[in-house]
Formats: sequence, C-alpha cells, structure tokens
Amino acid sequence: MKAIAVRREDPEPVVIEKPRPDPDVGEVLVRTLRVGVDGTDHEVIAGGHGGFPAGEDHLVLGHEAVGVVEDPNGTDFAVGDVVVPTVRRPPNGTNAYFERGEPDMAPEGAYHERGIVGAHGYMSEYFTSPAEYLVRIPDHQTPLGFLVEPISITEKALELAYASRSSFEWDPESALVLGNGALGLLTLAMLDRVYDRVYCLGRRDRPDPTIEIMDELGATYVDSRRTPVDGVSEAFEPMDFVFEATGYAPHAVQSIHALAPNGVVALLGVPGPTEYEFDVGAMHGEMVLHNKAMVGSVNSHVRHFEAATDTLDALPEWLLDDLVTGIYPVDDFRNAFVDDNTVIKTAVEFSAYEER
Ligand code: NAP
Ligand code: BGC
Ligand code: ZN
Repeated sequence: MKAIAVRREDPEPVVIEKPRPDPDVGEVLVRTLRVGVDGTDHEVIAGGHGGFPAGEDHLVLGHEAVGVVEDPNGTDFAVGDVVVPTVRRPPNGTNAYFERGEPDMAPEGAYHERGIVGAHGYMSEYFTSPAEYLVRIPDHQTPLGFLVEPISITEKALELAYASRSSFEWDPESALVLGNGALGLLTLAMLDRVYDRVYCLGRRDRPDPTIEIMDELGATYVDSRRTPVDGVSEAFEPMDFVFEATGYAPHAVQSIHALAPNGVVALLGVPGPTEYEFDVGAMHGEMVLHNKAMVGSVNSHVRHFEAATDTLDALPEWLLDDLVTGIYPVDDFRNAFVDDNTVIKTAVEFSAYEER
C-alpha cells in the first residue's frame, strides 16, 4: 500500500510502499479516507518536533484521520463504520495514564503520538488501531471527519481553562484567539457561539482569506504588527479568555496583560527555544492581584473527540467550506503540504467514501 512518510535522510515527505497491516487481537483494520495536515505536521517535517519510531528509517505522517472499518476483527465495530482514531498510544506496554483513560495527560516519554513521535501515523491506505482508540462518527460527517481531531484539541483546552475558573462566578463575554491558522479559526468559530465579542490576531494584510472568515463571523481582526498582544487591552478591551495558537512564545507572557481581571489564557503552541526580555514582576503581580490563570494544554482523548463531533455539526457550513482550501489525492499530495497565505486547511484523500 502507499504511505506518505518522512525519511531520516530526506526532509521532504515522499510516497513509499509498505505492506498492508494485519490487525492484532483487539485491533481493527481501517481503510483510510482522508488525513488532514496542520502546523504540527510542518514542524515534524522540519525536524522541530516529534521523532521517528525506534529503529526505523521513516515516519509515516498524519494524525488527523477519518476512515472506514474494513475488518472489525471481532471487536464491537461493524464493516463500514466511519471512525476517527485518537493520537496517543502507550509507548512500551501500558501505563497508569492510558489505564485510566487519560493518555492526553501523560508526560513526555509515557506516550507515542501516531504520525508525530515514536509511532507511524495515518497517511497510508490502511491502518490498524486498538478498538478503544477509535471513535465512531455519524456517516454524514465523513467528508470532514478529519476535523474532529483538531476540534477535540480545543474541546480539551477549554475544559482545562474553564476548570480553573470554576470556583467562582465567572461570566466571560470577550475572547481573543492568537493565530489565524486552522486551529485558531476553528476555535474562533467555536468561541463565537458562546462569547458576545470575539477577536482574532494575525499578521497579514487584507485581502486575506483568513481575515474574510473573521469578518464573516463578525469577529474583530487584530493585526499583531500594529497592536502587540500586551497592547490589546488598551486598543480594544481586556479579554476574559485568550487562546494562543500561534506557537510564538512571547505571546504566552504578553497575553497576561491582554486579560481582564479573573481571566484565563490557554496556551496551545509548541515553540522551540526562544529568548525574550520581559518584566517578570509585572506578569507575576498581574496574575496574583487579578486572579488570572494560564494553562497549557496538549492532545485530547475520546471524551473530547465525542464533544468535537457535536461541535462539527454545530459549526456553520460556509465556515467549513471556506476553511478547507484543498483535498488532494495521494498522487498530488505535495499540494496538501503547501504552506502559504492562500492555504488554510488541507487534507490528503487516500480513498473515496461510498455511502452505505
Ligand atoms: P499554523 O497553521 O501554523 O497557524 C499558526 C498561525 O499563527 C499562522 O496563521 C501564523 O500567521 C500565525 N502567527 C504566528 N506567529 C504570529 C505572530 N507573531 N503574530 C500574529 N500571528 C502569528 O498552525 P495550526 O495548525 O493552526 O496550529 C497552531 C499552533 O498550535 C501550532 O504551534 C501547533 O503546533 C499548535 N498545536 C498544538 C496542539 C496541542 O495539542 N497543544 C494541537 C494542534 C496544534 P502566518 O500564517 O501569517 O505566518
Ligand atoms: C496534535 C496533538 C498532539 C500535539 C503535540 C498536535 O498537532 O493534534 O494530538 O498531542 O500536536 O504533539
Ligand atoms: Zn494536530
């Protein structure tokens, strides 16, 4: 079967041939339909994040998959079920995080991430997965099922951030998303359903397809070249919630100053080493004197995937149409990895879905 992989000696992803996998006991064989591409994939390809499976010369890419069950192999799934796989797997035998259904809370070293670190991903014509890591989705979500994983990332981050505000009466009205990539825009659309006023920060000139989505949502565009994150309170308003999805490390510390009293920041980006001079006293004081919080959030698990399928149904159709800028067959996969200002979200299609 065909797979899309990066090899140790070659920074560009290529199509390789691999044997079709055989499901072990408790595993399901899935025919891959579509696999999305995100900022993390670009970081993995660039060698800035993730790592190869032990002893292997390549890593099959892809962690945002949707597929159809080909062989349920004695599990509770049926042939033709549409499924989305979670990302983390136990590294070498199980551990307490996986046993209690919280692999997303495991520390580094206590997990592999398929397509990212230590385990092959889903960009192949077939993949196998233990049944417990597959989430069934309704048939009508099949074409956009690859968005369930990224939406689940935000579901988890919101859960962690809101938990930190659960001990008192918190009635948030304003939210700021940092970053106009696919994660930022999906999150903006999710927050737009709940907040009175939403803002999104980028660094581009109009006309731009991401700013058009902000306009259509009724969100306010914040240009970071004119208004730095720590100037947002003054230029616009203090934010009850900030969601960082730029991966630009200074935003983490600047965002404390964008918050209203009692507000919370969720950090999602995975930056490399970054030196940045800032007033640590002012940040410390702000957090204490205004009961502010900052949480980091990574990965997601079955509960978040299930919430994400509900969210996918609730998001406006026009938004999803505008967000997904290209679906490419394997032979044309390079287009799915183009990263310029015309591209928002892409996916590689491995096989077409035939409705039951
Ligand atoms: P992406 O497509 O690379 O989006 C990042 C966006 O941030 C881009 O649109 C970029 O603008 C913008 N940006 C970067 N620096 C900026 C700055 N200084 N000022 C204004 N805008 C800036 O990535 P993504 O897939 O949406 O993901 C966003 C981040 O979340 C990435 O760092 C990714 O690794 C991380 N992530 C984390 C998790 C998790 O579980 N924690 C899950 C998924 C993704 P331009 O395009 O104009 O450069
Ligand atoms: C994936 C997560 C993963 C994170 C860190 C994200 O792009 O969606 O599942 O935990 O990267 O590797
Ligand atoms: Zn991702």
